[in-house]
Amino acid sequence: MAIRFQRENRIFTLDTAHTSYQMKVDAYGFLLHLYYGGRVYGNMDYLLTCYDRGFSGNPADVGNDRTYSLDALPQEYPVMGVGDFRNSALIVRNADGSECCDLRYIGHEIKKGKYGLPGLPAVYADAAKAQTLEIYLEDKVSGLRVTLLYGVLEDADIITRSVVIENRGNRSVTVEKAASACLDFVTGNFDIISFYGRHTMERNLQRQEIGHGTYAIGSRRGASSHQYNPAVILAERRATEESGSCYGLVFVYSGNFLCETEKDQYDQTRVLMGLPSDLFHYPLEPGENLTVPETIMCYSAQGLGTLSACFHDCIREHLCRGKFKEAPRPILLNSWEAAYFTFDGQTILKLAKSTAELGIDMLVMDDGWFGKREDDNSGLGDWQVNEKKLGCTLRELTQKVNAEGVKFGIWIEPEMVSEDSELYRKHPDWVLRIPGREPVRSRNQLVLDFSRKDVRDYIFEQICVMLDQGNIEYVKWDMNRSVVDVFSGEIPQGKVTYQYVLGVYDFLERLLEKYPNILIEGCCGGGGRFDAGMLYYTPQIWCSDNTDALDRLRIQYGTSFFYPASTVCSHVSAVPNHQTGRSVSLHTRGVVAMAGAFGYELDPEKLSEEEKEAVREQVRQYKGWEKLIREGTYYRLTNPFTETSVAWMFVSEKKERALVSVVLLEMHGNMTVSYVKMRGLDDTAVYRDAESGRRYYGADLMEAGLPMPVELKEYPAYQIELVRED
Ligand code: GLA
Repeated sequence: MAIRFQRENRIFTLDTAHTSYQMKVDAYGFLLHLYYGGRVYGNMDYLLTCYDRGFSGNPADVGNDRTYSLDALPQEYPVMGVGDFRNSALIVRNADGSECCDLRYIGHEIKKGKYGLPGLPAVYADAAKAQTLEIYLEDKVSGLRVTLLYGVLEDADIITRSVVIENRGNRSVTVEKAASACLDFVTGNFDIISFYGRHTMERNLQRQEIGHGTYAIGSRRGASSHQYNPAVILAERRATEESGSCYGLVFVYSGNFLCETEKDQYDQTRVLMGLPSDLFHYPLEPGENLTVPETIMCYSAQGLGTLSACFHDCIREHLCRGKFKEAPRPILLNSWEAAYFTFDGQTILKLAKSTAELGIDMLVMDDGWFGKREDDNSGLGDWQVNEKKLGCTLRELTQKVNAEGVKFGIWIEPEMVSEDSELYRKHPDWVLRIPGREPVRSRNQLVLDFSRKDVRDYIFEQICVMLDQGNIEYVKWDMNRSVVDVFSGEIPQGKVTYQYVLGVYDFLERLLEKYPNILIEGCCGGGGRFDAGMLYYTPQIWCSDNTDALDRLRIQYGTSFFYPASTVCSHVSAVPNHQTGRSVSLHTRGVVAMAGAFGYELDPEKLSEEEKEAVREQVRQYKGWEKLIREGTYYRLTNPFTETSVAWMFVSEKKERALVSVVLLEMHGNMTVSYVKMRGLDDTAVYRDAESGRRYYGADLMEAGLPMPVELKEYPAYQIELVRED
């Protein structure tokens, strides 16, 4: 039994294969957090300590006991206004304006299977392989009911948390902030690892000590953002890639979020993950409720590598859905960097012919095929095919592409509208805009009010009309600006940011239902909405608008901490690179792009015959490794932020096959040799290097490593395929 409740001392225990989580309902009905970490066997309430603490107040029920304070005790779901002055998981404003909520335990239920969340993405599992704990808390005065949801995937070492806040009183209340997870640690010194970035340079790793005070990351941009990814790691100070304790929290949500860490006055650490208070004031009338998006949690005693592997498995197996969850992903040629807006039907056909010649599976027609869209200043919202530009109908175009033996995919950006569009001229009130104010423009486009069903229905209809015109097997769903003018006019202002995201999810769900065979790739100016929420709908995401191989090494490294390679779209583009001006060899570009769902983003006609042959070889190789890359265990062998050789590898589940990739970042006269130490192999098994035929014991490759050649080249890259000899 993964979830246990001991009636006599009211302790809840959540066990997974390697971890335990405990909490306790105390004598006053407060729910205290006891423990999260490696597997334990006893009751951890002995960890609780109570002392008379100045300026840390005491709840009324404790009478004269000055040693009991919520300001010092570890809590499961801390609220504002009852004497805990640290950051709150929940802030509620009552009808009288007070900000207080006194949550006490009133009951619980343990259920078979993993809970789902209406309208929101959530981890799922076979009913026999997961359990749910619902703990009911109530504020007697306002009638607010808070249900804490815990999902336990025992074998996967995953615990999920979500919260439902329900107004069971008879006056309205407003939720001002709501986390879905709080972890209180009574002891320990932690680092916080977070992933910051910007457009075309997402998910750089930052590791820093959690000191006294609050360190927070989040998004107010309407999407989870390029700037801070909604996922963090709390690592013991000495934790490394291969050793030490660390905790990961991944928010399954694609909009605004807040993650706060705090070391308090008693050297205790709190981490919170959830919905922020900025741009969020969610009114609940009597009978209404709010579901806080899920946080996935995992603990590893073996360092960051094991933590990542656990999240990779969870996302691949328990979050991604649909036909492409386990299917090989098509290799794409995308028209964007090949032609930008300057193309017609002939251009697309030429690309399709090249796609076929190179052995690539699919051609994707990116931005520019609809409405009046010759640049990025107009046309968004008019999802009618520009037949004049294409010189034929979409059906004819897809038929011609298919006739080349190539699949066809298309780009859309459903959430947006250009002011210079038929849609905007007809429905200027459909955008998010604050009355009486000029909107903030970005890429010269405005954001449609996706919290409104009528707006979504209209766009959905247009997109379906387009998709029904031909054999379209892939859609790239883009979102190319942040949300600024948060105002709907249709729903209370404080609900807009949340309902917008739910609107996006609703649209995606409907699209998946109607077109289960279409592969949807997420995108937001590259990786501006690369989060677990989107991965519930889109099993792969365009990782970054930066296709420079060297920058991609860092971007893909940061992405790998939570998100499996199967979700990371990565393409070979032309040189000099369009984002950095750097030139890197085709071979190295291929090696880097093969760390995920592979493709090309260039005009093959500009390649020499020799380069075309090299591309054909890359495609052939990738097809042979696709399953290993998509399903294998991923190991970060070095850190591109601190080391000069960047290496990573994939190992098959049974360890009989591995692919090691290496890029050397520095070249000097009389160059030193780089040795790459591998991981995840069978110690005593013999592995054959598929190319050289040389044989090595697994342990030898892991303990001593393999020397990389010294060649007179800039940024040389190597791929070593290892096959176990049985
Ligand atoms: C975004 C995407 C690109 C491309 C353009 C088209 O920037 O990330 O890949 O699709 O939009 O406008």
